Amino acid sequence: MNLKLLLFIFPTVVSTDIIVELLKIAPADTPQCFREFRQLIKCVEPHEALINSALETVNEETVYNIGFMNKALQIGRNVSECLGHNFTCDGTKLVVYGLDYADYIGKKVYGDVFHCFINAQTFELLQICQRDTYEPGPTNQVEDVTVVNNITNTLFECVARKMYSTPSCTVDRIVSLYQAGKALIDAAFEFYRWNAKYPVEWEYDAGKYCDN
Ligand SMILES: *[C@@H]1O[C@H](CO)[C@@H](O)[C@H](O)[C@H]1NC(C)=O
Ligand SMILES: *[C@@H]1O[C@H](CO)[C@@H](O)[C@H](O)[C@H]1NC(C)=O
Ligand SMILES: *[C@@H]1O[C@H](CO)[C@@H](O)[C@H](O)[C@H]1NC(C)=O
Repeated sequence: MNLKLLLFIFPTVVSTDIIVELLKIAPADTPQCFREFRQLIKCVEPHEALINSALETVNEETVYNIGFMNKALQIGRNVSECLGHNFTCDGTKLVVYGLDYADYIGKKVYGDVFHCFINAQTFELLQICQRDTYEPGPTNQVEDVTVVNNITNTLFECVARKMYSTPSCTVDRIVSLYQAGKALIDAAFEFYRWNAKYPVEWEYDAGKYCDN
């Protein structure tokens, strides 16, 4: 798996039925996990139709649609509030952790910095910079956090340099987008590890992105 895949893991939707997706993520294979899965369904069900239609619509273009994204993020917050943070099974913890990350990243990108994000055509910059900075290494390099951090830092420095020429991209906004980007990479890395059956802690900590 290369960094491009890693970056675009979130918009990659396999099916457009949220319940089917949740069954894959959180199999109810013990009595405790069955209880937690039922709680998950209970919190998702009231929003099922909206979520499924959002899953059908989402693509690389909708990332720039602040109305659509804020609506999606609000559904996520409502589901998260209903769920709480008291799960013990891997799959349900993954969902809670993913929602925490989505909320953090969403608040950053779809707030004050949005003009910079859209005017700088951030995704296009990411693709250009990835092409210019990425050197293919051994295939298992994304399993090593220091290598991932190194690739990420090189990539983000390139993007930040290019953003300076966009007037709405002040230093503060570029820093905010950088924090959102770091969080996205961290979350994607954890999901990748989970998917590859490595042990994952699922501890979300906004503090580590130097938030204040
Ligand atoms: C989310 O919850 C808020 C407050 O409880 C409510 O006003 C809003 O309609 C909900 N939004 C969705 C999309 O369910
Ligand atoms: C969280 O779950 C544990 C074990 O299932 C339970 O003992 C505890 O009371 C729960 N706490 C809350 C706040 O629900
Ligand atoms: C990070 O990447 C640069 C450029 O590809 C390389 O020179 C350096 O050795 C790498 N550092 C680590 C710790 O992997």
